[in-house]
Parts: sequence; structure tokens; C-alpha cells
Amino acid sequence: MVALIVAVAAAVSVYIFIYYNFLKGVKCKSDVSLNGRTVIVTGANTGIGKETALDMARRGARVVLACRSKDRAEAAVLDIRRVSDNNQVVFMHLDLASLKSVRAFAETFLKSEPQLHILINNAGVGLVGKTEDGFSMGVGVNHFGHFLLTNLLLERLKQCVPSRVVVLASETYRMVGLDFSKLSRTEPGHTNGFLDYAHSKLCNVLFARELSNRLEGTNVTCYSVHPGVVNTEVFRHLNRWLMLILVPVAALLFRDPEGGAQTSIHCAVQEGIERFSGRYFSDCRVREVVAHARDDAVARKLWEFSERMVGLSPRVSAVDLNPSSHRLLFSCPCSCLCPFQTSLMIIIISGVL
Ligand SMILES: NC(=O)c1ccc[n+]([C@@H]2O[C@H](COP(=O)([O-])OP(=O)(O)OC[C@H]3O[C@@H](n4cnc5c(N)ncnc54)[C@H](OP(=O)(O)O)[C@@H]3O)[C@@H](O)[C@H]2O)c1
Ligand SMILES: *[C@@H]1O[C@H](CO)[C@@H](O)[C@H](O)[C@H]1NC(C)=O
Repeated sequence: MVALIVAVAAAVSVYIFIYYNFLKGVKCKSDVSLNGRTVIVTGANTGIGKETALDMARRGARVVLACRSKDRAEAAVLDIRRVSDNNQVVFMHLDLASLKSVRAFAETFLKSEPQLHILINNAGVGLVGKTEDGFSMGVGVNHFGHFLLTNLLLERLKQCVPSRVVVLASETYRMVGLDFSKLSRTEPGHTNGFLDYAHSKLCNVLFARELSNRLEGTNVTCYSVHPGVVNTEVFRHLNRWLMLILVPVAALLFRDPEGGAQTSIHCAVQEGIERFSGRYFSDCRVREVVAHARDDAVARKLWEFSERMVGLSPRVSAVDLNPSSHRLLFSCPCSCLCPFQTSLMIIIISGVL
């Protein structure tokens, strides 16, 4: 009996030690005030985005929650206003799965808000399906929607320097190579939701890199972020069978959303990180990315390709769709999102942390 109690106590202590040292993650140390500053957070009604918006509101910013669901967003607005004691928190409708909606959001925002200091491209999905414009869902929402949004708001950011763009990426960016044929509207894309998600996250890393190259000398800086493996609603689309495993694992081993927001907050406010513009951060520190995610030529090609895809420059030609130069590095053996593979990836990713 005594041995059992000792064993349980030891296990609990080890868990607490691991949790606080490896899982919880570090806190953003900056106490910068954002009085008089305007921040947009996309997908801010839940998860990491909501915690990030709350932190911005606590710092005194005017915070725009750019969300697709009015009900969910308005509930979050009330919560954030109450907890932060800041009533400069507002909802504006944005559905990143529709380029039309992105344009409408930008138009409304630019008309009604004179300033923009921090743009946080936080919304993200990993879901099989297509967007209104025919992109696969992950790539369409996570990359193309945010690509257009950022471009439409860039002038305003330049007028409000020093200003920043924070792009939520993910360690899963490592799992695929860039494949232009899977990015186009006319092709089926990655039919595996997880690979489509990973592909979009690689685009996010390359996008931040190229954006910073284009912004050199403007005092607008940008950063991509891995928030950690965080217990949010991001897994809500997995099947029930998987959820059964995931819910307890997530409760024990994943970061809470507040912990998950720290690196986004760091990249949004921490002074002195400007020289790392274009780089990738996790645990509030700059990290090296794998070679295919720091190739400037590929990043530029992705930018130009994306401009045509979202209608910021003339339409794509057949040459652009030729994927020969950038092949898939990692290919899934099964086309469905099989439970085994997903569990394995979750375990690997948890292990990485
Ligand atoms: N959780 C993790 O372990 C993890 C790890 C690495 C990276 N990330 C990244 O962190 C970011 C935040 O994720 P999270 O974990 O906080 O996920 P979450 O709890 O699922 O929140 C995602 C947010 O994105 C919004 N969204 C989804 N599709 C949208 C669309 N078409 N238009 C506008 N908003 C849309 C969602 O709105 P609704 O509520 O209306 O659906 C929600 O507000 C994502 O970019 C994700 O890829 C998360
Ligand atoms: C950028 O910031 C520096 C330092 O504050 C300033 O000297 C410079 O004029 C700024 N450049 C632009 C384009 O605003």
C-alpha cells in the first residue's frame, strides 16, 4: 500500500515537473502598453486567438475580432470586454474561406478604422473540403485568405509604423514539401485534410519570409509562429473514435490556450525582435526552420503564384501549375485521414515538444 502511494506520488511529481518545464511553455515577458494602438486578430472567438485578443485588450489596444460567426464572436467580445475591462473590443465579419468576404472585410475596416498597428493572422482549419473559390479548405483559409487580407491592409500598416504582422504557422510545416499543383483552384489539392493543413502551414512560413523581404526598410515587420501543441477546438473535426483518445491526451499533455497564445503575443509586442523579421518563433524564441522553408526563391515564387490565385495580378498560366521544380517530400500512404496516422502524428508532434 505504502509502495503504491509512493509510486503514485512519484508519477504525479514527474508529471508536474514535465508539465511546467516542457509542456506549459514560456510566458511573454513584455509589459508593453498598447494604448492608442489598433490590433486585428482573425479567428479570435476561441482558442489561441481569443487568448491573444484578450491579452491585447488588457494592454489597452483597440481590438478587432475578425471572425466568421457573429454569435460566437459577439459572445467572445463580451467575455473579453468584461475580463480586460476594455470596451474597445469589436467584432467585424470575416470568412477567410471566401475571397469576396476578405475584400468586404478589408473595405469595411479601412473605411471605419483609421489605424492598424498589429495584424494577427490566427484563424486556421484542418478540414477536408473546398472554399467558395475552389481552393482546398486548409490552404484556402490558412494561406490564400490571409494572403489577400494582409495585402489589402498593407498600406495601412505602412502608415502606422512601427507595425507588425504575426502569422500562425505550425511545426507540421515540416511534413510536406511545397507543391504548386496542390495549391491551385482547379486541382483537387491534398485530399488528406492533415496534409492539406501541413501544406498551408508551410505556405504560412514562406509567406512571412517573403513578406519581410518585401517590407525591408519600412518598419513593418512580420513573424511566423508555432504556438505549441495546444488544447483548443482545432481538433473538433476529427472523428469520434479519435476524439476518444485525444481528449484525455490533450487534457494532460497539451498546452492550455493561454500558454498557446504566448508566442503570438511575444511576436506582436516584444521590443527588440525587429531584426528577426521574417523568421519563425516558438516558445518566444526565434528558431531555425528546415531548408525547404527558408528558400527565398521558393518564397518569392509562392508569393507571385498567390497574387495570381487571389486576383491581385493577372490570372495564372499553365506554366505556373507545373509542379516539376518543387515536389512533395513526404507522401501519405493512404488517401484518407486514417486514425492510426493521425494518432502517430499527434504523438510525434507532442514528442517534438
Ligand atoms: N492547437 C494547436 O495545437 C495548434 C498547433 C499549431 C498551430 N496552430 C495554429 O494556431 C491557430 C489557432 O488555432 P486554435 O488551436 O486556436 O484553433 P481553434 O480553437 O479551432 O480556432 C480556430 C479559429 O479559426 C476560425 N476560423 C476557422 N475557419 C475560418 C474561416 N473560414 N474564416 C474565419 N475564421 C475561421 C475559427 O472560427 P469558428 O469558431 O467560427 O470555427 C476559430 O475562431 C491556427 O492557425 C492553427 O493552425 C494550432
Ligand atoms: C524606421 O524607424 C527608424 C528608427 O525609428 C527611423 O529612423 C526611420 O526613419 C523609419 N523608417 C521609416 C520608413 O519609417
